[in-house]
Amino acid sequence: MREEFGRWAGRPPAEVWSAPGRVNLIGEHTDYNGGFVLPFAIDRSTTVAVAPRNDGHLRCHSLQVADDTGWAKYVRGVVQALAAEVGVQATGADVLVDSDLPTGAGLSSSAALEVAAAAAMAAMSGVALDGRRLAAVAFRAETEFVGVPVGVMDQTVVARAEADHALFLDTRSLEIEQVPFDPAAENLNVVVVDSGVRHQVGDGRYAERRRECEAAAAALGVEQLRDATLEQVEATEMDDTLRRRARHVVTEDARVLETVEQLRRGPRGGAVRGIGTILLASHASLRDDFDVSCDELDRIVETAMDKGAFGARMTGAGFGGSALVVVPDRHLSSVLDGFGDAAFEVRPVDGVRRNGAMG
Ligand code: GLA
Repeated sequence: MREEFGRWAGRPPAEVWSAPGRVNLIGEHTDYNGGFVLPFAIDRSTTVAVAPRNDGHLRCHSLQVADDTGWAKYVRGVVQALAAEVGVQATGADVLVDSDLPTGAGLSSSAALEVAAAAAMAAMSGVALDGRRLAAVAFRAETEFVGVPVGVMDQTVVARAEADHALFLDTRSLEIEQVPFDPAAENLNVVVVDSGVRHQVGDGRYAERRRECEAAAAALGVEQLRDATLEQVEATEMDDTLRRRARHVVTEDARVLETVEQLRRGPRGGAVRGIGTILLASHASLRDDFDVSCDELDRIVETAMDKGAFGARMTGAGFGGSALVVVPDRHLSSVLDGFGDAAFEVRPVDGVRRNGAMG
């Protein structure tokens, strides 16, 4: 990356930082309802190299994609958010981006770009930001300056994940707990399967789900769906669609807590092995009650189970994107072969990091 930057910018970078993508293990469409999520960072990442410019221009270049596909707006959003959130002025910069994270696959490529860019540009300006501040800058860049109405999950895990752990986040208090998550210790693997179906979080359907959740909370007389119980959801008079949306969120929050309990048993207690049925229940709820799956994702889950997986579900916003599959060693090649190029293994890694002199 340093060499590529040198060739492109004619001088060495001041800072090089990498941030991973994420897979959400469980807790889908709960983060904008004040609820719980349990994502982990994956070993696919975006690297950002930067050097200051004294003419005030922001020049962005990607090693993968043409420069006018819309990704540079995230970098501009980060520059604005750095100024607004932490008073860092990084207006003039050369920014080079490299990534092995597929875009639009529901693996948070935009959060990875935002967090890596925020860390690199803050460091370039002589400011060290901790994970919490980086997540806040990246979240503000995406929601306020790029204008996509996401929750806090993606930026938080990309900035704060720890290797071999999943990040249990209470999206209301922003309290986190690192929960041990080590599939390899149980001879298990996590495989991501990209459905190839693409959607934009900004395309309106995500915002529609948010509005439905707010309407359901209002009908239930609670501030957010986090505060509702399943009994209330079933007993209160409301539109059937709103009831199904609320039922998903309330039961999904419970499934996150159940998964955390299960993972606390550790490898000897069959921690990861035991979450298979919870993952399947999450998928069914996202498909039947929240209506954010699609035929391709449903087929991936079914095929994976037929090939010997312990559990599988769609991950991320849905309407396409990817599914995650938990599969024992003995069936790994059958799952990988079954999905061809669409499938790849992932493992839980650390969040954003500064690259060494060789990076
Ligand atoms: C997208 C958003 C997240 C979250 C998920 C659904 O990934 O960026 O904030 O809402 O969808 O769980």
